[in-house]
Amino acid sequence: MSVSSIPFLDLVTPHLELEQELTKVFQQVVRTAGFIGGPMVENFEKSFAAFCQSKQCAAVNSGTDALRFALTAAGVRSGDVVVTVPNTFIATTEAISQAGALPEFVDVDARTYNMDPEKLREYLEHKCTRDSSGRLISRRSSRPVTAVIPVHLYGQMADMDAILELADEYGLIVIEDACQAHGAQYFSRKQDRWFTAGAMGRAAAFSFYPGKNLGACGEAGAVTTNDEALAAKVRMIRDHGQAKKYYHDVEGYNGRLDSLQAGILQVKLQYLAQWNGQRRERAAEYNRLFEAAGRPITTPFEPSWSRAVHHLYVVRSENRDGLMAALKDQGIGTGIHYPIPLHLQEAYHFLNYTRGAFPVTEKSAAEIVSLPMFPHLTAAQQAAVVDATRRFSERESTEPAVLAAGQRNS
Ligand SMILES: Cc1ncc(COP(=O)(O)O)c(C=O)c1O
Repeated sequence: MSVSSIPFLDLVTPHLELEQELTKVFQQVVRTAGFIGGPMVENFEKSFAAFCQSKQCAAVNSGTDALRFALTAAGVRSGDVVVTVPNTFIATTEAISQAGALPEFVDVDARTYNMDPEKLREYLEHKCTRDSSGRLISRRSSRPVTAVIPVHLYGQMADMDAILELADEYGLIVIEDACQAHGAQYFSRKQDRWFTAGAMGRAAAFSFYPGKNLGACGEAGAVTTNDEALAAKVRMIRDHGQAKKYYHDVEGYNGRLDSLQAGILQVKLQYLAQWNGQRRERAAEYNRLFEAAGRPITTPFEPSWSRAVHHLYVVRSENRDGLMAALKDQGIGTGIHYPIPLHLQEAYHFLNYTRGAFPVTEKSAAEIVSLPMFPHLTAAQQAAVVDATRRFSERESTEPAVLAAGQRNS
């Protein structure tokens, strides 16, 4: 791949490298006609649970279903409120609604872009009350608040010690949205040890959408948990509410994982630690290069308690749109994760949040840009990205008016 064209994400190279191994999985599935469930799914579940240092894994057909099934299996009921952040992909809140609950938001931390535990505390202390039976009730919706979803966005875990402590104090279920955080680690100061994403909450949801750190060749997801009863419920819900064929304890869904995807994920899981290591090296290289270039943008912040797996490398610039256009001119792909905070989306108009409700998320949504990040990114490509960013920032400081005018016309 030439340095002159740098994709935001290269999904082709890793699959070409594994073509033979992946083809074998396909042959095995075709030859046995074991398309749904079976040993391939069970083996992957065991392997992924071990990778996350979690006791159980129930594979499902997407990260969205993993979240929805985890919420329901953990006991979230129709009419409940589930608290999360407005700076996430809409799947987080779709799953809350699909579980019959209502999403409410707390703002994120300005440096990590993840849930700010202080904002969660403020919400619980000042935006909730207790009813006569002692239940925690949201003042804005008058509904019981029963769960919280911290999202480990961009491959970095939220500050789980603080969130778990608050959840404990207020009796809330914690479901981790680990859809972008396969293998991310968190040092619990409370327990004096490192944890892997997916092993700290009551349950966690993972997505294996192709572009994720561990991606299927199609749709896939999983719930991890240390709670065996919860895992059994997820297995039931994903399979039409049956634990035994045609004995339906509840109404469920068709949310199972294909054997083919499980077999593919099993192959790719062997490389996940290596790929995550490469992502960490690429992130460190970007940090070094941007430092040397005089910090034309704000680089990602990794607290001492975090080992991020850099699903995305998100930087910040006050002229984000100008920077993206300049990088595009140089053939460099970028993205925004996410340009419109959830509370301002048309789909959530009915929640009655107004602009200004979550200022940290709103400001970052206007300034963040995700640069090319994937395990096979080369140092030369990174140097080209940083150089183009530095040149844009130098031009901007010498001729801001001209650049601003250019932007207005574009
Ligand atoms: C933070 C987050 N949550 C949930 C999801 C939903 O996962 P899926 O696309 O597999 O349904 C995604 C992935 O797109 C995500 O990034």
